[in-house]
Amino acid sequence: MSTSGKKTILGKIHPDVLSFTVGKDPVLDLDLALWDCIGTAAHVTMLSKMKVKTPVLSEKESGQVVKGLIEIMRESAAGKFTISVADQDVHLAVERRLTESLGDLGRKVHTGRSRNDQVAVDIRLHMRDQILGLIEETTQLAASLVKFAKKNVKIPMVGRTHLQPAMPSSVALWSTAYAESLLDDLLMVEAAYTLNDRCPLGSAAGYGVPLPIDRNLTARLLGFSTPHHNVFHASNARGKDEAVVLAACTQIMLTLSRMAEDLILFSMPEFGYFVLPPELCTGSSIMPQKYNPDVLELIRAKSAIVMGYGTTANTIMKAMPGGYNRDLQDTKELYMEGMRVTRGSLRIMTLMTDSLSVRSAKVRDGFSAGVFATDRALELVAGGMPFRDAYQYVRSNLDELESADPDVALAAKTHLGGTAGLDFKEYQMRIKVVVKGARLRRRSSERTISKLLGVSFPLDT
Ligand code: ARG
Repeated sequence: MSTSGKKTILGKIHPDVLSFTVGKDPVLDLDLALWDCIGTAAHVTMLSKMKVKTPVLSEKESGQVVKGLIEIMRESAAGKFTISVADQDVHLAVERRLTESLGDLGRKVHTGRSRNDQVAVDIRLHMRDQILGLIEETTQLAASLVKFAKKNVKIPMVGRTHLQPAMPSSVALWSTAYAESLLDDLLMVEAAYTLNDRCPLGSAAGYGVPLPIDRNLTARLLGFSTPHHNVFHASNARGKDEAVVLAACTQIMLTLSRMAEDLILFSMPEFGYFVLPPELCTGSSIMPQKYNPDVLELIRAKSAIVMGYGTTANTIMKAMPGGYNRDLQDTKELYMEGMRVTRGSLRIMTLMTDSLSVRSAKVRDGFSAGVFATDRALELVAGGMPFRDAYQYVRSNLDELESADPDVALAAKTHLGGTAGLDFKEYQMRIKVVVKGARLRRRSSERTISKLLGVSFPLDT
């Protein structure tokens, strides 16, 4: 084991300490390269406008830096930008690359900032982009579930509590329930988006800098609604930001997990309500007859994983003192992985839902006389009997209970949100509003970044 230090931009570091502290950053940070360049473009643009006797950079020089950054962004899009262990992370790698191509100019870009506000802004820009993708994918699944409901609108299905047959329900009630759950989960995502929509740039190491930096300007240049106000808070908000997004992802994953569990159960031969297309199932290496719902099982497991990431992020922060601490580096991976898993799960669930079919004879077969017991008691109530007496009467005479027509039972629940009171248009409208909002936000941030860079963004490759 070598004891001599390895040379880095920030001095010599023992190689083992370097590799331990750098961790997975040379790989994970590749995803931040684009955003790091954009954050730096805003920072140097602001520096060039800063009112000081000796300008740090002229406007012309800041333009040169922005050009250099665009080059790095193109390299990164082509998979040619690399981060070495000696670089430690994307921030120092970008600075090294700028210095290689621009000399002293590259050595000026870090004036008035720290890697702490730099990584915080990178993650927030990455997150804004990811959240908008997450919103679109969540609505795609919701839309697919509503379509499935409309296609199967007249098919009754036994409603269950405790998994026991309970009351008449329908396939459409089942599937729009999960669509509505996703739309509700998006309210958590919206809260995460709003919390993320603050610019930490200029907080530097967490205590600001003795320079007349314009924090409103950098926030505006990057398309954030506002900067964080208190610079110490801006620094402490790192980690919380990731945890809040993971909390929203967890809610989506919980919806997916329960839906997956229903599908596993209802597609097993003993139920046979739903059919999963064979190409979306996997086989067994020994049992030739098998078509297994592995996708759904993995969704169930992944919901636990994302929940775990959220818990880990919260636990990392719990006893961390105020101010930057390296612990925070590990919340980055949790967020990135949690987001990747959630988005992947949404896409595969949409594929499943798009090709799911119902065996209407099987779902109808699921009805027993008992499923109509409550409806029968309410019929007696309609004849003037107090509910508790009607309940007792039906319970004591279960043998007499006759099976009724499930279609009639469905049609009888005309109240809001009941089997005959589902408002598909309302769901479609909610979906449309959310999708439109996400697209507007994306277009607006792309326009802002295009203006900052002076070239159209996303860059054409
Ligand atoms: N890779 C680091 C992180 O994610 C960058 C910030 C390092 N800052 C520091 N003061 N050591 O947190």
